[in-house]
Amino acid sequence: MPRVEFAWVCPECRGPLEPVDANGLRCPAEGHVFSRRDGVLSLLTDERVGHFSRFLEEYRTVRRDEGRGVDSAASYRALPFADLEGRHRTEWRIRAASFDALMRLVVAPMAEAAAEALTIADLGAGNTWMSRRLALAGHRVVAVDLHTDPADGLGARVFSEFDFDAVQAEFDRLPIPDGACDLAVFNGAVHYSTDPAATVREALRVVRPGGTVAVLDTPVYRSADAGREMVAERQAAFRRRFGFASDSIESRGFLTFSEIEELGRVLGLEWLCHRPFFGLRWALRPLWSAVRRRPEPATFLVFWARKPGRP
Ligand SMILES: C[S@@+](CC[C@H](N)C(=O)[O-])C[C@H]1O[C@@H](n2cnc3c(N)ncnc32)[C@H](O)[C@@H]1O
Repeated sequence: MPRVEFAWVCPECRGPLEPVDANGLRCPAEGHVFSRRDGVLSLLTDERVGHFSRFLEEYRTVRRDEGRGVDSAASYRALPFADLEGRHRTEWRIRAASFDALMRLVVAPMAEAAAEALTIADLGAGNTWMSRRLALAGHRVVAVDLHTDPADGLGARVFSEFDFDAVQAEFDRLPIPDGACDLAVFNGAVHYSTDPAATVREALRVVRPGGTVAVLDTPVYRSADAGREMVAERQAAFRRRFGFASDSIESRGFLTFSEIEELGRVLGLEWLCHRPFFGLRWALRPLWSAVRRRPEPATFLVFWARKPGRP
């Protein structure tokens, strides 16, 4: 499948970039120089690389310790339907069900209505498994992430037999022109935002009127206290194990149902929402938690909204 058809813009001023050489781009207005390494174009300024460096270092440490990442084309290409490395099978079962719902309820109807390939931004793409799946379905995809790790970040795109773009960028400053995408998806990612309204607003900017923003696999709670308790427990566990809380960038960590509603109100979006079925055991978790007087467990939804305006 061809690469995206738009030209990258400066993440700071959104002006056009000009080529420096075969692997470099430059913002003539601000002087930032950007380069491509191992197939990943870095569109982060030096200042933003510095801003995220501790977050990325700690994130890498935690994820390696958790046994995340892929080390072969076979394990990368099997995702999300099989976890060949076998370390997070339950999690991937959930990811697969959410991804199926996204394809069935959002991507397929959009592609059918457009009668052509969609341009899709996979925001917070991690190792890019979803970008590959979308490229396999015939779409033009850009994978956006801060993390370029060869196993757990954009570097893993080398395992894909389908072509797509991969750019190192932050989802609050996308190097994508206004209205260039049909669909922007946050898969397991929007809860890393400091300010979800600003993050979703930026995603909406790059989506054309009549296009869609979708969110999946973000932990959602009824009560913000339950979400805060989950975040505090995780940070305490990190502190014990690694000596840091992995909170160098303040991130939200979860959403609540009322925040999702509020996001829709503030951004003028009418969310559609689907709750995938992850199995009986999973469905019974809230009941078990109530019986054991434990905090409410997270729910994972697929929710999406059409950007207002005429296509
Ligand atoms: C839990 S991972 C999910 C990865 C992938 N979407 C998936 O479904 O497996 C969250 C990803 O969001 C990325 N991320 C966090 N903050 C970000 C930001 N401000 N801009 C871009 N990516 C970000 C992280 O680097 C990480 O790869």
